[in-house]
Amino acid sequence: MTLRPHIQNLVANGFDTDRSRYFLLHVAQPAAARLFLRTLLAQGWVLHAHEARQQAKALHEQHRCPAGIGFTYAGLQALALPTRFLRLVAEQAPAFAEGAPLRAAHRLADTGPSAAALWEEPFRHRHAHVFLTLHADDPATLDRCSQTLQTIAGEAFAPAGWATPLDGAHLGSNKKQRREHFGHLDGLTNPLIDGLHTLRETQAALAVPPTLQAPGEFLLGHRNADGYNPWLNAAEPATVRQFFTNGSFSALRKMAQDVERFNHFVHSQPLPAATVRAKLLGRWDDGQVVSPVPVAGPKPTTRAGLNSFDFKNDPQGLGCPYGAHIRRMNPREDAVVPVRKRPLIRRGIPYTTDSERGLLGLFFCASLEDQFEHLLAEWGNKNPFGVPNASTAKDPMVGNHEADGGVFCIPNATGPDTQLSGFTPFVTTKGTLYSFFPSLDALHMLADGLGTE
Ligand code: HEM
Repeated sequence: MTLRPHIQNLVANGFDTDRSRYFLLHVAQPAAARLFLRTLLAQGWVLHAHEARQQAKALHEQHRCPAGIGFTYAGLQALALPTRFLRLVAEQAPAFAEGAPLRAAHRLADTGPSAAALWEEPFRHRHAHVFLTLHADDPATLDRCSQTLQTIAGEAFAPAGWATPLDGAHLGSNKKQRREHFGHLDGLTNPLIDGLHTLRETQAALAVPPTLQAPGEFLLGHRNADGYNPWLNAAEPATVRQFFTNGSFSALRKMAQDVERFNHFVHSQPLPAATVRAKLLGRWDDGQVVSPVPVAGPKPTTRAGLNSFDFKNDPQGLGCPYGAHIRRMNPREDAVVPVRKRPLIRRGIPYTTDSERGLLGLFFCASLEDQFEHLLAEWGNKNPFGVPNASTAKDPMVGNHEADGGVFCIPNATGPDTQLSGFTPFVTTKGTLYSFFPSLDALHMLADGLGTE
């Protein structure tokens, strides 16, 4: 089975461009919005994963750039998706139907300065309907394409959404070595999906080769790692199943990073700053995992090489502590924690304004409840796994460190743990938006109105 022609390339592979621009649009005229979608598809703006490179090149030659498009639950309602479809999605995906603001306090740990009541305007409850993304290397192309799309849209959407895009830009120009604002190498890890990706020979030959993951972890209508597929209920009409199949849920999360505060913390601990940074994340600044034993042979430099590890050889967290960001977010194979995997596709990009720096996190998964929200509420904002475990601090990078922030324990082979303390929130949530990114087939169905008019 090949999934490639059906899946939006933003979900399947992402775009390797230096910049992305995100529009959160409110439908003003549903019929015009459907026409906009028809035109977007007819003109080939939304790339699918099959031959995406060639398609992107062709767009580039026409001075255009690729797009992705998702819809909030309120957006599907605004576009008059029939009740039967809405009912199924509300039953199977309550987080998506409720929207992130209602879930923020109890499922995303967004309280205090990160509370939904303080989120930026475009993330207001039920306001955004359409999440449109554009991807290019230079701002001029983004400006031109934004203008063209706004003209195509006419009166379809409220003007405010066009006027206030979210602009992301990678730091530096080396596409293979991208760092986020705290200075760590980012974008190293992403899942490979069975039926969509293939293992290269070099990957298969690695000491810890990557495994191809069940498509149902990311795409609706397929079995997940537990062999379960809530979206293939035979009782549903074929059009309903077709609409959801090969779509994916996304969480867009705008997170401001307080770099000064992070650096101050790192430099005020009882270990060298480079070690503190590495222990908090789980990787050294060159991307290598913090290993419990000296690593023999040449250092890996490729993404595949830097991902050839699990935590089986580190049951006490002597290399990578259980509290480290990457060990919490993806415990991988671990002799101590036999957890259900909760993988996420990550397509984040930094943003920088005159007054703020941060990350426009963009995550894809099949279940916002079991994946995105579980990672934040349970794995990120509670005590870490691990036996014995004396840490009380939350995920050092993204945890909502309230009160005294707790302690982060770094186990030592001999002697007591080293304790890091004095955590304050380094990251503040500015907004979160849940959307559904339909397959190409479903986009056509939506554009054609599914029985409306
Ligand atoms: C400003 C906020 C954040 C920063 C600065 C940040 C930074 C990083 C960095 C530097 C890495 C290692 C590079 C890599 O593996 O690609 C990483 C990995 C990861 N992060 Fe974050 N992150 C942030 C927010 C989040 C959030 C909100 C989530 C989940 C809801 C998350 C989930 C993950 C996952 C799943 C990995 C991969 C771990 C692995 O497979 O080893 N991150 N992050």
